[in-house]
Amino acid sequence: MPEPLIGRLVVVGLGLIGGSLALALKAAGGCREVIGVVRREKTAQQAVELGVCDRAVSSLSEVLGELQSGDVIFVAVPTLAVEAIFSELKDCLPTGVTVTDGASVKGSVVRAAAAVWGRVPDFLVPGHPIAGSEKSGVTAARGDLYRDHRIILTPLPDTAAAHLQRVRAMWQATGAEVLDMPVAEHDEVLAATSHLPHIIAYGLVDTLAHDSENENIFRYAAGGFRDFTRIASSDPVMWRDIMLANRAAILEAVDLYRGNLDTLRGAIDRGDSDYLMGVFTRAKAARDHFTKMLAKKAYTETMQAQEVTFTAQPGGAVSGTLRVPGDKSMSHRSIMLGSLAEGVTEVEGFLEGEDALATLQAFRDMGVVIEGPVNGRVVIHGVGLHGLQAPPGPLYVGNSGTSMRLLAGLLAGQGFDVTLTGDESLSKRPMNRVATPLRQMGAVIETGPEGRPPLLIKGGHRLSGIDYVLPMASAQVKSCVLLAGLYAEGETSTLEPAPTRDHTERMLCGFGYQVVRDGARASLCSGGTLTATKIDVPADISSATFFMVAAAIAPGSDVLLEHVGINPTRDGAINILRQMGADITLSNRREVGGEPVADIRVRYAPLKGIQIPEDQVPLAIDEFPAIFVAAACAEGQTVLTGAEELRVKESDRIQAMADGLKILGVSAEPTEDGIVIQGHTEGAVFGGGTVDSLGDHRIAMSFAVASLRAGDTIRILNCANVATSFPNFAELATRAGLKLQVG
Ligand code: S3P
Repeated sequence: MPEPLIGRLVVVGLGLIGGSLALALKAAGGCREVIGVVRREKTAQQAVELGVCDRAVSSLSEVLGELQSGDVIFVAVPTLAVEAIFSELKDCLPTGVTVTDGASVKGSVVRAAAAVWGRVPDFLVPGHPIAGSEKSGVTAARGDLYRDHRIILTPLPDTAAAHLQRVRAMWQATGAEVLDMPVAEHDEVLAATSHLPHIIAYGLVDTLAHDSENENIFRYAAGGFRDFTRIASSDPVMWRDIMLANRAAILEAVDLYRGNLDTLRGAIDRGDSDYLMGVFTRAKAARDHFTKMLAKKAYTETMQAQEVTFTAQPGGAVSGTLRVPGDKSMSHRSIMLGSLAEGVTEVEGFLEGEDALATLQAFRDMGVVIEGPVNGRVVIHGVGLHGLQAPPGPLYVGNSGTSMRLLAGLLAGQGFDVTLTGDESLSKRPMNRVATPLRQMGAVIETGPEGRPPLLIKGGHRLSGIDYVLPMASAQVKSCVLLAGLYAEGETSTLEPAPTRDHTERMLCGFGYQVVRDGARASLCSGGTLTATKIDVPADISSATFFMVAAAIAPGSDVLLEHVGINPTRDGAINILRQMGADITLSNRREVGGEPVADIRVRYAPLKGIQIPEDQVPLAIDEFPAIFVAAACAEGQTVLTGAEELRVKESDRIQAMADGLKILGVSAEPTEDGIVIQGHTEGAVFGGGTVDSLGDHRIAMSFAVASLRAGDTIRILNCANVATSFPNFAELATRAGLKLQVG
C-alpha cells in the first residue's frame, strides 16, 4: 500500500461539499481516516452508514487532542460560520496540522482568521472547490463531484509551502484541477460568474412567484424558465451568507448588469434590431465557445489536443454525385471584406472548417456582428473600413496561414495594436514575407525569432502605398499587401512572378472597390468604400481534387463533383491530371458572383507519368499531395520542379509525402524544389503501413485516397486538422466508396 497523501481528514460540516471530498479521498486511498464533525445525530449516523466518514463526532474539541502533524481539517460550513470554527481551533491546534476551507468567499475567511488569530496563520490554506449541485446534505455527496472540476486555492504570503502542498495534493487526488489565485481576484471573479447569476435566478423566481397569476406562470413556464432558474433551488442560508460576505464585489457586478439590462430595455423600447442582434450574436458565440470548452472541445483544444487516426482498408472505387464544402480562400475573404463593408453581407456556401472559422472568430473579437454559420450561411453586419475595434486579447488563428497573413495586412492600417498567434504548425511558418512589404509601407510589426509568429502589429502608424514586386508566387502575400493598401496613402500595387489565385481582386470588385489589373500587376487606391453584397461560395477545387484523384486512380470509378470553383488561377490540378491521361469533363459552366463554376465528372482511365509544367505549379499549389498519389499510380516517372513553396506549407509537403510514399513502398525522391516519383499501374500500387500526416490536412486526405490502390491497410496518424479545410471528408469519402474509419 502506498503512503496516504495526508494523515486524517477531519471534515467540519459534513454536507455535499465536505462529504464529496471525503468520499473521493477515501476512494483514492489519500488519507488514513475520515472523521466527520456533525452536530445533528441523524446526519452523523447517515454519514457513517453511507461510508462518507469512518466515525463522526459532535464537536471539534472531541478530536483536536488526537490530531498530529500531517492531518488536515477541512472547514465546510457556510461562509459566515467559519469564524466560529476558527475560534474553536484557537490555542488547541496541534502543530503541523493543516487547516483549509471550502467557503465561496475568500475575503471573509481571511478576515475571520485575522479576527481570531490576529493575523492569518501559516497553516491556513483558503480554498474554494468550483463544483456543487442544487442538492445539499450528506446524502447528496458523490465521490466524483470534483473530477475535472477546478479548485481555486488563495494562499497568502505567509502560507507555509508544506501546508499549501498538502492541500494541493489532497484536491488533486479527487481528480480536480487545482489553481492558485489572489484572494481579491477570486472574490471578483466569483461575484461575476457565480454570485450574480444566483441573485438573478432567485430574483426572477421570486418576481414571478409574487405575480397574482403565478400558477399560470409556473404551469406554462417552459424550458427557458426551467433552465435559467435551476440554481434558485440552492441552499438559501449558504447564499445569504455569500451575498453578505462578498458585498462589495457583488454590488459592483449587480451595477454592471443593471446598466446592461437598462440598455437592452432601451433597445427593445426603440425597436433597435441591430443592437439586439449585436448583443445576442456576441453572447451566443461566447456561450457556444464556453459549451465547447466544457466539453473539452475549445477551438484551440480541438486543434491541439485531439488525436485522430484514419484507418483505410485497401481497395474499392468511387462513384456518385458529391458536393464538397465551400472554397477556403473565398470563405476567408468573404468574412474579411464583409466585415469591412458598409451594410449587411450575406454569404452562402461558407466553409465551416476550422481555418475559416478562425477568421470569423477574429472579426467577432474585433466587434463585428456575424450571424451563423448555419448550413453554410453567414450574415455579416459590416462595420465599414474604419469600424473595427481593438480585440480583448491576442487573435488566435489556429492552423490558418491565410488568416494570419491576410489579417496582418488589414491590421497594419488600424488604430490599435494586435497580436496574432497560431498553433504549433503555423508558429513555424515564415512571416517575413508579409512583414517585409508591410514595413516598407510604414507598418510597425514585430515577429518571433526568425520571422515566425507571433506577429505583434502596432496600430496608429500611417501607411503609404508601394509598388511591390513579389519575390515568390504567393496569393497570400499579394492579398496582404493589397489589403494594407486599402489604408495606405496613394496607390498600392503588386507585381507577381506567376499568376496566383485572384480571389481578393475579384471579391474587392464584387464589393464595389476598384482594383486595376494589368497582366501580372494589380493596383488599388485607398479612400474608397466597400459596399455589402451577396456571396455564393462555390465548392473548393482543392477539396474536390481528392475525389478527382480517387476516381482517376481506381478502376470502375465515376464521380460527379458539383458546383466547383474553376477559377483559371486554381485549375492546375485539372490541367495536370488531364495531361496524365485522366478522363475529366466539365459541364454546366456558369459564373457565380464573379467566379467561374462547373460540375466536374471524373471517370477512371489509366494514367501516365509526366514532367509537370512549372507554369501550373502556382495554379495547383495546394493539390500536389493528391497529385503525388496520382503520380504513384501512373505508368513511368513523374517529375515536379519549381515547387519549393511546398516546403513551407502546413508541413514540408515534399518531405512529408516522400516519407509516406516510401513507407508504402513507392519510389519517391525529394529534390530541393520538387520530387521524382516512379509510378506503376498494375495491381496494388501501395503497400500497407502507418504514415504520419504531421497534422497537415492535405497529407492526411491524400494518403486516405491512396488506399483505393493499396494491398493492405493504411493507417494515417495526426488527422485532426482535416477539420481545417474539409470537416466532413471522412463522411463524404465513405459515401463515395473509400473504406475509411476515423478513430
Ligand atoms: C491561399 C494561398 C496559397 C495557398 C493557401 C491559400 C490564399 O498560399 O497555399 O492554401 O487563400 O491566398 P501561398 O500564398 O502561400 O501560396
